[in-house]
Amino acid sequence: MSFTTVHIAPSILSADFAHLADEIAAVEAAGADLLHVDVMDGHFVPNLTIGPPIVESLRKVTALPLDVHLMVTNPDAVIPDFAQAGANYLTVHTETCPHLHRTIQSIKEHGVKAGVTLNPSTSLSALEEVVADVDLVLIMSVNPGFGGQSFIPACLDKLRRARQLIDQAGSRALLEVDGGIKVENAAKVLKAGADVLVAGSAIFRSPNYADTIAAFRNVAREL
Ligand code: DX5
Ligand code: ZN
Repeated sequence: MSFTTVHIAPSILSADFAHLADEIAAVEAAGADLLHVDVMDGHFVPNLTIGPPIVESLRKVTALPLDVHLMVTNPDAVIPDFAQAGANYLTVHTETCPHLHRTIQSIKEHGVKAGVTLNPSTSLSALEEVVADVDLVLIMSVNPGFGGQSFIPACLDKLRRARQLIDQAGSRALLEVDGGIKVENAAKVLKAGADVLVAGSAIFRSPNYADTIAAFRNVAREL
């Protein structure tokens, strides 16, 4: 991992929703690489967040790629709307996709990069048959639904095995990690092979977004 390849993806779940455009402008100016957008349906996860109209509004105020994480029971039903709204990545949970290959193809047919993710309790084997087809693999390091939770240490080994799976498949998928990522544990996840760090509370609850993003980059540089 080198300084140039780490991607920082602030999760807007921890932003001030009453000032979302300002918050996004601030992380963009602070050097974010992607904007992580957590979509929750109150069914797959016990929380309700945002839908396609908000993504459409975000698209108008930022040049950052929109990394949309779909924590919804029926992702197939909403892929067209989120694609139309301007998502650059659409990431689905294997737990919600009985026909995962078809879902990935559908995302791609809508002109969007396809990501796949797993809850902490889901075996990596759920990805084996599709890893060569995806643009992004997301390893959840908390149980999805809320920002500000603690990193689950067992996910580190899974991240390492996901790196191997991607590399062995000759896949160019990015490896992203989401949940409880802080400057203090960034070295561990980067050493395990992560390319993209999602950070919600670590960035939006910090006094200076640019300093925090720079601190993440320093960790990567010093590995
Ligand atoms: C959790 C979400 C995360 C969350 C991360 O369900 O997928 O993206 O916003 O927040 P932190 O970085 O605070 O754990
Ligand atoms: Zn997320």
